[in-house]
Amino acid sequence: MHYQGRHIPLCWALAELQLDKVQPPAHGESLAPWLAAQPKLPLRSYSIASVPAEGPITLLVRQVQCKDGALGIGSGWLTAWAMEQQPVQIRLRSHNQFHLRADSSNTPLIFIANGTGIAGIRALLAQRVALGQRQNWLLFGERKQQSDFFFARDIQQWQQQGFISHCSLAFSQEQTEKRYVQHVLAEQQQQLRQWLAQGAAIYVCGSLHGMGEAVHEVLQQVVGEAGLALLKQQGRYRRDLY
Ligand SMILES: NC(=O)c1ccc[n+]([C@@H]2O[C@H](COP(=O)([O-])OP(=O)(O)OC[C@H]3O[C@@H](n4cnc5c(N)ncnc54)[C@H](OP(=O)(O)O)[C@@H]3O)[C@@H](O)[C@H]2O)c1
Repeated sequence: MHYQGRHIPLCWALAELQLDKVQPPAHGESLAPWLAAQPKLPLRSYSIASVPAEGPITLLVRQVQCKDGALGIGSGWLTAWAMEQQPVQIRLRSHNQFHLRADSSNTPLIFIANGTGIAGIRALLAQRVALGQRQNWLLFGERKQQSDFFFARDIQQWQQQGFISHCSLAFSQEQTEKRYVQHVLAEQQQQLRQWLAQGAAIYVCGSLHGMGEAVHEVLQQVVGEAGLALLKQQGRYRRDLY
């Protein structure tokens, strides 16, 4: 069918709707205006985990399962329902505050991520690798190394090649006490001080509540409130938190 400037199968047009909220068409109603009036699936945001030179866009999508067993709208669609080769409508948004600065070539960078927040950090690391910039410290937290060490192959390869000079991992469910990135950061505050003294900038990506707040607290303890405000003002403390 011809729908909103595209030639697509009817099932693709239907797949963009919130089917549980759709009103059936009135007798004799034309298909296209009826489709256009139905509630669309809401937008979901994901960080792009790749850089353009790598070719296809890589996303890291964790399938959300609701209490009633239903899959999350965006993650369910992308991981279970979308058919292979089926176009998915996307909109690119730039997160201007979460890019590498043009003048960061000689700047050491500290990357902190938990969960799927590693997506945005992986893209920044890939860019650093492409630019030949080696002073990168990655702190990454997930549940279990075996099942949740996302992009492990890239990370290990970049470590071996010397593009990740320090890698600190925190797997929260591999010991009785929870171990999170903020704990590792606090343990390694001596190194944190050294990197900041060398002009390092910090990028944090992942969950706002919990990780984002706790990392902020550790940084505040290490550099002080005024010190952290200064880092922010200098563009050396950047966050992509949800
Ligand atoms: N996908 C993307 O492109 C993207 C991009 C940017 C941001 N994000 C955001 O990143 C967040 C990550 O969600 P997710 O489902 O992947 O993982 P998650 O549920 O946040 O869990 C990831 C890891 O963080 C740990 N964690 C739990 N509480 C914590 C705390 N207070 N401090 C530090 N770590 C803690 C978890 O440990 P336990 O479960 O063992 O307690 C687990 O090891 C979401 O808020 C998402 O919106 C995603």
